[in-house]
Amino acid sequence: MNIISFLSLFVSFILTIGIASSHAGLSSSYYDRVCPEALPTIKRVVEDAVAQERRMGASLLRLHFHDCFVNGCDASILLDQTSTIDGEKNAAPNANSARGFEVIDKIKFEVDRVCHRPVVSCADILAVAARDSVVILGGPSWKVKLGRRDSTTASQAAVNTSIPSPFMDLPALIKNFKDQGLDEDDLVVLSGAHTLGFAQCRTFRSRIYNDTNIDPAFASHLRTICPQVGGNSTLAPLDPIPGSFDAKYFTNLVSKKGLLSSDQALFNGGETDELVSEYSRDLEEFLEDFAKSMIKMGDIKPLTGNRGQIRNNCRMVN
Ligand code: HEM
Ligand SMILES: *[C@@H]1O[C@H](CO)[C@@H](O)[C@H](O)[C@H]1NC(C)=O
Ligand SMILES: *[C@@H]1O[C@H](CO)[C@@H](O)[C@H](O)[C@H]1NC(C)=O
Ligand SMILES: *[C@@H]1O[C@H](CO)[C@@H](O)[C@H](O)[C@H]1NC(C)=O
Repeated sequence: MNIISFLSLFVSFILTIGIASSHAGLSSSYYDRVCPEALPTIKRVVEDAVAQERRMGASLLRLHFHDCFVNGCDASILLDQTSTIDGEKNAAPNANSARGFEVIDKIKFEVDRVCHRPVVSCADILAVAARDSVVILGGPSWKVKLGRRDSTTASQAAVNTSIPSPFMDLPALIKNFKDQGLDEDDLVVLSGAHTLGFAQCRTFRSRIYNDTNIDPAFASHLRTICPQVGGNSTLAPLDPIPGSFDAKYFTNLVSKKGLLSSDQALFNGGETDELVSEYSRDLEEFLEDFAKSMIKMGDIKPLTGNRGQIRNNCRMVN
């Protein structure tokens, strides 16, 4: 063995140790040596997608949330239905609702190309795309922890039981987040993601026809676009400026203009009222806390070490 091949063996040994020693947890520098171009590439594709359709930023943020809340941040939401995979996309909270899968495919393709091999997991792509989306739309930035691996299974039943429903009241929402290791403050600040994006009539119909904790003019306006029968998929913005990451979501809750019953539940005379009004007055505090809670959400039950795999195609198990 000559000195060159000895050195390269030595270097790859050190690299392996480096990766192995980070198995215990996630690290924001995970891809720095393996593929330094990975993160800039994800950012570029997200920027293109959001430039084409601003709502895509919201949709990508939501995909990461719906991934993390169902057996951890393991890209299980991306797996297509097969005879052996219980496609999470078809579960009630995702069907005809979760979107952005083609953008994730595009990112995966570009990242594997610049890295010359599939080293970046689909679960990490979801986490980075969510952060990049928030930044592009004017929200805070944070260092995304990396090194998650991808699941080889998916569960529709777990989606049904883990994704919170827009009809939940405050105690149910608190319990739902607590089951994920997230507290009431995380619930309030992460719900602030609804400063972005849209919801379909079927998700807010009962609120605008039956809830009493709603601004009457707001409700009657929404009834003109969301009839009692039909129009299930008609969209309304979750916040007055759905393409901009601001604190208006919270201002709206204080004036009883939350779109979903679960939004208004956060400001309805309960213990979370105080934090909602604080965020409605203090944008900086909202941005800072949102970033912290996103890191916490991204830490939910990742697959590391030799658990799971790095998928070649985010839609299927290798
Ligand atoms: C607190 C409990 C939550 C409930 C009950 C809830 C429910 C919903 C519902 C019903 C929609 C509309 C879906 C549709 O009509 O197709 C929606 C949209 C959205 N949610 Fe949530 N959500 C919650 C928390 C979160 C969290 C924690 C995040 C992210 C951190 C998030 C991000 C979003 C985004 C960005 C959209 C807009 C998506 C788009 O326009 O494509 N939500 N949510
Ligand atoms: C999940 O919910 C949908 C719609 O309510 C239902 O059709 C499906 O059977 C449920 N799946 C499981 C596995 O519980
Ligand atoms: C409103 O409540 C009434 C009485 O509980 C119920 O019959 C009706 O279906 C509800 N409407 C909507 C849109 O949820
Ligand atoms: C519209 O949504 C409601 C409530 O989710 C559902 O019961 C109804 O079957 C839907 N109608 C259509 C045409 O999909």
